[in-house]
Amino acid sequence: MDIVTMKKNDYTELLALWSGFSGNTMTGADSMEDFEKFLCINADYCYSAFENGRLVGSVMAGSDGRRGYIYHLAVDESQQGKGTGRKLMDAAENALRDAGIEKAHLFIYTDNTAIEFYEKTGWHRRSDIAVMSKVLIGDKYMGTRLEE
Ligand SMILES: CC(C)(COP(=O)(O)OP(=O)(O)OC[C@H]1O[C@@H](n2cnc3c(N)ncnc32)[C@H](O)[C@@H]1OP(=O)(O)O)[C@@H](O)C(=O)NCCC(=O)NCCS
Repeated sequence: MDIVTMKKNDYTELLALWSGFSGNTMTGADSMEDFEKFLCINADYCYSAFENGRLVGSVMAGSDGRRGYIYHLAVDESQQGKGTGRKLMDAAENALRDAGIEKAHLFIYTDNTAIEFYEKTGWHRRSDIAVMSKVLIGDKYMGTRLEE
């Protein structure tokens, strides 16, 4: 398993990977243009996992200079349970840490079983914070559930 920094060329395989999971809702932010924009700003924090040359995992982390944020952690079903998710998160967390970011956050649906994965890898669930969202560009929305 190779964990390497994500490249613009990974986009088609990433879309296929993310489309397979209900926990990774696709939104307007997943258009190629917005993907490339995010990657350009956060190149050091986004990783792809490859097994025999096939893209099987991803994590897109970002920094606003103050906090880190985690998006699109996913591992192909055939490769789950082998430590890839943990390796992807280690890579993203180490990169944020190296940049001096002291804390990171992520959004996850309350019915996603991946919550248990995050708890096993050192994340804690908050009950003191509510997430509030507002659609700013309505026609860019592609998904069926509003995420991130
Ligand atoms: C969450 C996900 C990335 C985990 O990837 P993975 O490669 O299978 O995880 P790992 O093998 O590194 O697992 C690390 C630990 O978490 C545990 N774990 C992983 N997924 C789990 C789950 N769904 N429920 C409970 N525990 C889980 C593993 O058993 C392992 O525990 P151990 O260290 O005690 O052995 C993967 O299940 C996935 O792609 N899920 C669908 C996409 C998704 O919902 N992503 C989150 C979006 S916010």
